[in-house]
Amino acid sequence: MDGNGRWAKKRLLPRKAGHKAGVEALKKVVMACQDKGVQMCTFYAFSTENWKRPQEEIDAIFKLVEQFAETELKKYVDRNCRVMFMGDLSLLPKSTQDALNKIRESGKNNTGMIVNIALNYGGRQEIVNAVNYILQSGISKIDEQMLSDCIYTSGLPDPDIIVRTSGEERISNFMLWQLAYSELLFMDTLWPDMDEKSIDYIISEYSKRNRRFGDLR
Ligand code: IPE
Ligand code: MG
Repeated sequence: MDGNGRWAKKRLLPRKAGHKAGVEALKKVVMACQDKGVQMCTFYAFSTENWKRPQEEIDAIFKLVEQFAETELKKYVDRNCRVMFMGDLSLLPKSTQDALNKIRESGKNNTGMIVNIALNYGGRQEIVNAVNYILQSGISKIDEQMLSDCIYTSGLPDPDIIVRTSGEERISNFMLWQLAYSELLFMDTLWPDMDEKSIDYIISEYSKRNRRFGDLR
């Protein structure tokens, strides 16, 4: 979800107004994904590198996350979504952690779309943590399946498509293990401008791709 700051700057607004608008876009996008039958969507909300930002902006972001959990995420759970988080939540403000844990618990048996939110998430951190976890159990040689089973998305499918907004064409430490065969799509749209039409566009782009997974077909 990139481009909140630039969206605000264009309007001479403070960066946090961009994040607020980003939340509004997120609501539209989740709704559109659910309407169109997407089974799982992951949103990169805060990276392990975002701690480098001014404290004021970090505080504003987690306040929005907390509000989002208490209002929107609760609605998604009521609509049978399973809400999950990936990343080291232990460094988030305590009240934010409480709100997130509550939501995760309440929707854990839901069977509809999975809404996964990455917070204090880094792809390298995820892999290193998984390897350390495996080493602790005394195993000295790992295989791909073992690693897949020890990352946040254990048991869940790899992403079919990864979309980055705002014109940046980088992965920035996102789902490094899971993205091996994901389609990549880079859009110029700033995140707060994303809506249902953007989801239609993503699905139509995806449907044009020919996924071969190394095969010749
Ligand atoms: C993405 O928007 C939101 C977060 C990382 C929380 P940015 O804040 O990165 O927006 P730009 O890149 O400055 O436009
Ligand atoms: Mg950015």
